[in-house]
Amino acid sequence: MLDLSDPDFQADPYPTLNAVREETPIFPMTGDDGIERWFLTRYDDIFRALRDRRLGRVPEPVMTREEAGLPPHRPDWQPYHDIEEWSLLMLEPPEHRRLRRLIHSSFTPKRIEGLRPRITEHADRLLTAARDRGTIDLLGDFAQPFSVFVIAELLGAPTDAWEHFLDWSHQIVKMYELDTTEEQAAAAARASAEFDAWCRGLISARRAEPTDDLISGLCFVETDDGTLSDDEIVSTIILLLNAGHEATVNTIGNGMTAALSTDGAYRQVANGTVAPRRAIEELIRFDPPLQLFERWVLDDDVEYGGHRLVKGEKLAMLFGAANRDPRHFDDPDEFDIGRGDNTHITFGGGIHVCIGAPLARLELSIALERMAALAPGLELSGTPVRKPAFVIHGYESVNVSV
Ligand code: HEM
Repeated sequence: MLDLSDPDFQADPYPTLNAVREETPIFPMTGDDGIERWFLTRYDDIFRALRDRRLGRVPEPVMTREEAGLPPHRPDWQPYHDIEEWSLLMLEPPEHRRLRRLIHSSFTPKRIEGLRPRITEHADRLLTAARDRGTIDLLGDFAQPFSVFVIAELLGAPTDAWEHFLDWSHQIVKMYELDTTEEQAAAAARASAEFDAWCRGLISARRAEPTDDLISGLCFVETDDGTLSDDEIVSTIILLLNAGHEATVNTIGNGMTAALSTDGAYRQVANGTVAPRRAIEELIRFDPPLQLFERWVLDDDVEYGGHRLVKGEKLAMLFGAANRDPRHFDDPDEFDIGRGDNTHITFGGGIHVCIGAPLARLELSIALERMAALAPGLELSGTPVRKPAFVIHGYESVNVSV
């Protein structure tokens, strides 16, 4: 029904996603990895699935990897398995609850809001340089350095680590696609080992001499839930970078491409008709950077779209299909920059809901606000080219004249 590796589908998945969603709320499909998944297509079902405690990101609460039909961990990929071990995305309650609360108590609204002046300064620096050049790649010359800077500021990572950050992150996130090759997996394991060693160096430095950054916060947090171990902090730092960086870059690329290809949309922000804070919700909804999330069925007798699922089966939620569901959004295929509807599925929901959403929203609204101020005549220059992937959905480059 869907061919996730078809380049035409990857370039513009919406005609197909819309068609399958209207045809059926749920359908089975076996991927290149030989695993059968039940795909959910509609907003209400995906909204409910994200909050359904009988579904989990990992099978372990109710069965072993072997029982779930998963291959054993590969010893040569061990560095990758190590950094994933304490990732919030690989845990379910009670471990997830404990770790998430501890991270939350360091990742406070005050710490996020405190980043505003530095984020604004950095956006201005990048946009001023862009103006001098006339034409830039909005991804490579703005979104990537901007988003890495934000995470580096949040973590308190020294600037000389930034270029490694990008390489490490790009290699590790390849493991989240459904068709990862042997070569990509080996590169992800190497990147994991290097990133792990770098994190441990920084953690020892902060334990010896704390500063005002998030890593120091994670090193010294202490609540009724206890404290965080070095292994937990390493997994958390890597998750924050991987989960936080690329999704934000692709939201800027996908969202700005939509805004600049829709007549008058960007002008409404540039001339002050639509506030950046409102406009970003449509950038986030229209063409989400993460298109598919999976869940394991942890209980028998779970029903979706009239189909009964049993323990050990897998669900795949199509976020792009949900965000274009006409049962929930009026004229969902219209990019309406003033829509201001923040009920999109893009940040997930339930216990794994994006912990970085407030930071992502702050970054995106500062980016848009500074673009409107410093580059009010911004235009696409050429047609952006898609990256050949579906789950992590973005462009190779988005050339614009400033
Ligand atoms: C526009 C940008 C972003 C998008 C679209 C996004 C999307 C998501 C989604 C959909 C989930 C839930 C996954 C699931 O339920 O299976 C998630 C979780 C997460 N996100 Fe984000 N995210 C973004 C930015 C960020 C940023 C900036 C950070 C951190 C600095 C971040 C950190 C995380 C973490 C740590 C989790 C795991 C939470 C948990 O499992 O409890 N994200 N994100």
